[in-house]
Amino acid sequence: MLNIAVLVSGGGSNLQALIDAVEAGSINGRIVTVVSNKEGVYALERAKKHNIPCKVIPKKGNDSFEEQLTLHLMENDVDLIVLAGFLCILSENFVKTFENKIINVHPSLIPSFCGEGCYGLKVHKAALDYGVKVTGATVHYVNNIVDGGKIIAQKAVDVLEGDTPETLQKRVMEEAEWVILPKVVADICNKRRKEEKDG
Ligand code: GRF
Repeated sequence: MLNIAVLVSGGGSNLQALIDAVEAGSINGRIVTVVSNKEGVYALERAKKHNIPCKVIPKKGNDSFEEQLTLHLMENDVDLIVLAGFLCILSENFVKTFENKIINVHPSLIPSFCGEGCYGLKVHKAALDYGVKVTGATVHYVNNIVDGGKIIAQKAVDVLEGDTPETLQKRVMEEAEWVILPKVVADICNKRRKEEKDG
């Protein structure tokens, strides 16, 4: 079974989608730790409700943030790191340490509406301002370019007349993020299991 770490900074609805999929048996892995860079976020409550160990590693004013994070992930023997609404940019060095083991979910069809500073409601506002008729979500590997790693899965979502950033965000989450993120994690776990079996 793969040991999964989920890194969060906020509400944790994508974390919830993963917890639900693990509990439903559709992900062949276990969430061994939920890490937040902020105290008091609702994602931590979600983890606690399901008895998943959580850890807060504050980023602000913390020069050894990545060192502490690396140590924590190594201590937990983590095989897969899922960035689920994690708002910190990770260094080249960190990404190299966990090469091909970090995935991220982004609420647009990359390469549109992504990159540094494009997160949360800003993504949906940019999509509406541009006037696209279709947006969606992307799950991708994390490399040293923000939102620039290899794409694993995408799902399109229609933009509707009268959408606001909030309504669009909600629809993209429900129809795309919560669907493709658990599916990608399940696929990675199954693939790894098969590789281990085949030796
Ligand atoms: C999601 O839209 C995710 O794609 C983005 O940040 C948001 C986090 O939402 N990276 P939540 O914390 O999972 O509810």
